[in-house]
Amino acid sequence: MARPVLRTPLCDMLGIEYPIISAGMGPTLIGEPNGAPVELVVAVSEAGGLGVLGGAGFTLNELRTAIRQIKSKTDKPFGVDLLLPKNLPGAGMSAGERLTLAQVIEMLPEKHKAWYRKIAKEMNFPSLDDVEVPTDTTTMNPRAAVDICIEEKVPLFASGLGNPEFMVEKAHAAGMKVLAVVGNAKNAGRVARSGVDLVAAQGHEGGGHTGRIGTMALLPQAIDAAHPVPVLAAGGIGDGRGLAAALAMGCIGVWVGTRFLATNEGGAMELCKKRILSSTDEDTRVSKLFTGKTSRANVTRFHDLWDASGLEPLPFPFQVLLSSALLLGFIRSGNDEYVSGFAGQVSGLIHDIKPAAKVVEEMVETAVEILSRRLPETVRLK
Ligand SMILES: Cc1cc2nc3c(=O)[nH]c(=O)nc-3n(C[C@H](O)[C@H](O)[C@H](O)COP(=O)(O)O)c2cc1C
Repeated sequence: MARPVLRTPLCDMLGIEYPIISAGMGPTLIGEPNGAPVELVVAVSEAGGLGVLGGAGFTLNELRTAIRQIKSKTDKPFGVDLLLPKNLPGAGMSAGERLTLAQVIEMLPEKHKAWYRKIAKEMNFPSLDDVEVPTDTTTMNPRAAVDICIEEKVPLFASGLGNPEFMVEKAHAAGMKVLAVVGNAKNAGRVARSGVDLVAAQGHEGGGHTGRIGTMALLPQAIDAAHPVPVLAAGGIGDGRGLAAALAMGCIGVWVGTRFLATNEGGAMELCKKRILSSTDEDTRVSKLFTGKTSRANVTRFHDLWDASGLEPLPFPFQVLLSSALLLGFIRSGNDEYVSGFAGQVSGLIHDIKPAAKVVEEMVETAVEILSRRLPETVRLK
């Protein structure tokens, strides 16, 4: 059967077949597989969408290597997503320094250290002396990471946090497009005025770092605020119904995370993939537990543990290191019921792990069917 046609201006802008981008998803945990690794990027791009590497948390060398691996596996366009936080590195840690996770725990405030030690003792955590914390990461050195993306002429650069204004001109000179992810209309307007080519407006229901506005309310407001810069819908899109709805609202495509995480190529730990499959729409929670910023993950007993601690979250990246140490401890001591990763409310819609290409194919088929057949059947205009 001929491949269905579903084109928007996004397809012309990026040179892709379908208006579907797999979201940048960085690793939730030090030393664990990555949310959106090379394999997922290649699979989505080869399927006619555009795959985005989750480069947050990579070392600078790993980032360049991953970009070159993608280029060696596909000649289709792809993207790289980085976090560009304003205030880094955190006090007491410098980029490039060699530290173990056990040493980082020693650097935490007394109350957090005491809380960690209590849990580690109660749950019999094995030592974390062997876990090295990379500090030459893209997040600790965002400017150097951006330079690598520009040197490598990555077709689409995406900033998941912070305004990429400082790099837009250089990126355009290298023939790249720039996207910024935002969670409210004000920031949609701000990044649009900074010269980005695309805005991804992510609603509250999305996985990972997330804002307070639901996708349905956010999209039209973000579209108005970003005009004439086009907007992609993000947060809660898991099938062709979400894609069709986003296009109907005036978006030129979708930025999809959780659905692509739960694929053969998606980089979540098996345990986290299983959690997504067994989740209902109620089984995620927003917390500052993971990174110190509000982020959505599948809910586990870890959330209750944190809520009961009464502790203030630490500034980024120290909360990431504290939660990583705990997650590693839970995994190594067999306390799986405390382990989860970032995921969105759309988890409840996901019932199987399948190839990413199949996700693209089914999303397109359903959206085409809705837009061309089902809508004309149900919506009477005369
Ligand atoms: C496991 C995971 C990791 C994520 N990591 C990042 C990241 O490193 N950078 C970023 O910009 N967004 C990150 N996000 C957010 C996604 O890019 C995307 O905006 C979100 O998943 C969209 O909502 P959805 O999960 O409902 O599709 C992450 C999301 C998940 C589920």
